[in-house]
Amino acid sequence: MGISTEAQQFAQFLENVRVKASTPGLDLAVVRDIVDTHASASTEPEGVTYADVDADGVPALWAIPEGADPDRALLASPAPRQLTWKPPGHAHRPPSRQPRRSREGKADMKAFVVEMYGRDGLRAADVPEPTVGDGDVLVRVSAASINPLDRMLRNGEFKRLLKHRLPFVLGHDVAGIVTQVGSAVRDLTVGDEVYARPRDLRIGGFAEFIAIDQDDVAPKPQSLTPREAAAVPLVALAAWQILVDRAHVMPGQKVLIHAGAGGLGSTAIQLAKHLGATVATTTNTRTEKLVRSLGADIVIDYTKEDFSKVLSGYDLVLDSMGGANLEKSLTVLKPGGLAIGVAGPPDAGFARQLDAPSFMGMAMNALSRKVRKQAKALGVRYEFFFMQASGAQLRELGALYDSGRLRPVIDRTFPFDQTLEAMAYVEQGRTTAGKVVISMTPGSD
Ligand SMILES: NC(=O)c1ccc[n+]([C@@H]2O[C@H](COP(=O)([O-])OP(=O)(O)OC[C@H]3O[C@@H](n4cnc5c(N)ncnc54)[C@H](OP(=O)(O)O)[C@@H]3O)[C@@H](O)[C@H]2O)c1
Repeated sequence: MGISTEAQQFAQFLENVRVKASTPGLDLAVVRDIVDTHASASTEPEGVTYADVDADGVPALWAIPEGADPDRALLASPAPRQLTWKPPGHAHRPPSRQPRRSREGKADMKAFVVEMYGRDGLRAADVPEPTVGDGDVLVRVSAASINPLDRMLRNGEFKRLLKHRLPFVLGHDVAGIVTQVGSAVRDLTVGDEVYARPRDLRIGGFAEFIAIDQDDVAPKPQSLTPREAAAVPLVALAAWQILVDRAHVMPGQKVLIHAGAGGLGSTAIQLAKHLGATVATTTNTRTEKLVRSLGADIVIDYTKEDFSKVLSGYDLVLDSMGGANLEKSLTVLKPGGLAIGVAGPPDAGFARQLDAPSFMGMAMNALSRKVRKQAKALGVRYEFFFMQASGAQLRELGALYDSGRLRPVIDRTFPFDQTLEAMAYVEQGRTTAGKVVISMTPGSD
């Protein structure tokens, strides 16, 4: 019996199960994918269930403990309870497949790793599951999202500052389920749905599993699906740290947010509005409506108009372009106003933040000398900003997503095995607005 015929029979079986046992959480489309690809997880009222093929290649469904790793649970003793479906005359035996094991004895997982710096440096690979430290949680990744930082890291743009050892797993944003906790972990337990921007040098969201320091992790906002939650952490933390921590935006202040349709801009507009600011943004004609729906009061189409000719008296500019855009941004500030650059040039504060040697601080100061001088001449300030991981802030942000004050903007979702295509899609500039997400179960949320 071919797998597709079995899959059809199994889907038919699940249809019956759904009717008989009323299992509304079980998405047949997802399960069909699962059966076709031999592995993944779905939920039903009794807890997480797992669809796989048994030792004879016949599709079956097992109930496994919530948060458990299906591969391991299936091989555990006693065997997990099986939801009954057997083709006539068939007795199920658990899958014969053993978890893949690396040379270090750890189970292997699928991941996208930077093997060498450069455009073609990202590859799919089987790598050992991450080691879980005392203060870490192991997260089975449900979804991840792409940030410009992934491209930069892959290209080696940060290699002098962020000293990753090649090969390393890429990916700065994740949502998933905790499957293991270290001995010193306090507030998180197996089965928790979480989201995170893991700290620098401990990234690795483009993988089946990631070990994350507990301090970088927060419960997933309940109102968001894993796919939506994965779109949030890096840009939301950056927006929060810029607008709240660094600039202390107050009600009534005027804030200009460049690139309002981007991942960062679309989040910063919403947060600045929540803080009570009047928000101007730059975007293109296609996304004007979207940025207004996010709360922008003044929208400037950068393809038609020069923002520096129409705006003045601003308290804060968030510049994500650098270069001429940043220099012009200084001119729209009121005296004492602040321009925060996230695309550069860096300053000595950035070197300090990364604990880089002092000569790097001097080099960075040199890079930003021109713009700092221009700012001083205009009676305004320039600061570079680079975001930091924070589970505590993700908890606060989660409440804003759950209350509907913030919402993620997602351009497109790719399946995990198409992570390279997703990166190429982002790099070719084909996005319309917001984030590009990678999902382990596309179509399920
Ligand atoms: N330092 C940090 O902590 C930090 C944190 C987050 C992001 N960033 C940086 O911020 C930048 C943006 O990040 P992102 O995640 O928002 O990237 P993104 O999702 O790729 O968005 C970039 C946006 O810029 C728009 N754009 C291009 N040229 C523009 C122009 N001249 N004026 C206005 N908008 C323009 C693009 O729209 P169209 O091309 O379609 O018009 C797109 O919507 C990146 O350089 C990223 O590295 C830094």
